[in-house]
Amino acid sequence: MERFAEPTLQTYAGWEEYHSKPVTEKLDCFKTEGRLFDIIFAQQFDRQFLDYLCRLADCIRIMAKTKLGQNKLRHLLPHKRAMLYFVQPSTRTFLSFQNACHVLGLKVSEIRGSSTSSEVKGESPEDTIRTFASYVDLIISRHHEAGFAEKTAWVLNQTERPVPVVNGGSGPDQHPTQALLDIYTLEREFNNTGGLDGKKIAMVGDLKRGRTVRSLSYLMKNYKDVELYFVAPEIFGMRDDIKQFLARHEIPFHETDDFESVMPLVDAIYMTRIQNEYSEDPKSEAETYPEFYFKAEHLSKIHAHCAILHPIPRRHEIEVAVDKDPRAAYWRQERCGMWIRAALIAYLFKVEKEIFEEFS
Ligand code: CP
Repeated sequence: MERFAEPTLQTYAGWEEYHSKPVTEKLDCFKTEGRLFDIIFAQQFDRQFLDYLCRLADCIRIMAKTKLGQNKLRHLLPHKRAMLYFVQPSTRTFLSFQNACHVLGLKVSEIRGSSTSSEVKGESPEDTIRTFASYVDLIISRHHEAGFAEKTAWVLNQTERPVPVVNGGSGPDQHPTQALLDIYTLEREFNNTGGLDGKKIAMVGDLKRGRTVRSLSYLMKNYKDVELYFVAPEIFGMRDDIKQFLARHEIPFHETDDFESVMPLVDAIYMTRIQNEYSEDPKSEAETYPEFYFKAEHLSKIHAHCAILHPIPRRHEIEVAVDKDPRAAYWRQERCGMWIRAALIAYLFKVEKEIFEEFS
């Protein structure tokens, strides 16, 4: 569809002042009555919340194993509606949120590209989101612009019909619900080895533009004695803001481009692909970095309990032959995404009590 006008730029009183604040001073803007209302930054999650949400996700996962449990879950939120506004490509985040809504009985509307919305007529992103709020009770967005979810949530919170906004990925900046599912996966994978506290985690690949590793790094402040290894080609090293954050929170981290030397040291390896969609000329950017691939021959180098994760989509970062090794956790990780997102939605609509009661 042809775009008839550029997005209309709108001015919101108070935005500039709010926007200039450090994230730590912004967090209360996305809370009501002591609970999280909008899900925008990974920095919103503390240990108590993470443990609580993982427990809730476990309960939902167990209930969903039976028809009776599925029926109970489906009757929790049939009176609520969610909007999935995904104008940057997505498979997992879209489908896991959509199916999380189905698990809890929410009805779902979707827009999967701005070319089919009135944005082509020049409608501003803020008016677009405000329009969704006229119809639904929850907005989940995936957008190519960093800060998109933050701005639209802030704008909605100034209106008479604020509905929760969940950031399903905003440019190369943050992907807080991916970080939730990564924590849930790691905790499950380390179920027999004492959980995530005290573990060493390698993050590998394009750490500079990988929003998943950025959001996950923020969450490390909630765990005791974790240690990070950033393994990347020099041009894709972790950005300074994350390194400064880790230093402030006294979380040890190491940087190297020698992947093989790190393999025997760690309890988890988190692989990522080159995020060349953020390059000015994606086709001209080299996509192959074989020294940063995990191959079947590497399985003998890692611990027996080492979990291999990847937010996926993958290209060549993990050889397909690795998939059948029990330490390959990435397909389980995808499914964890649906359970933790269902838990998050249950939390946002305050129906956790009904779920926990099934286990009392
Ligand atoms: N992990 C992730 O965000 O995948 P999608 O881009 O397919 O949603």
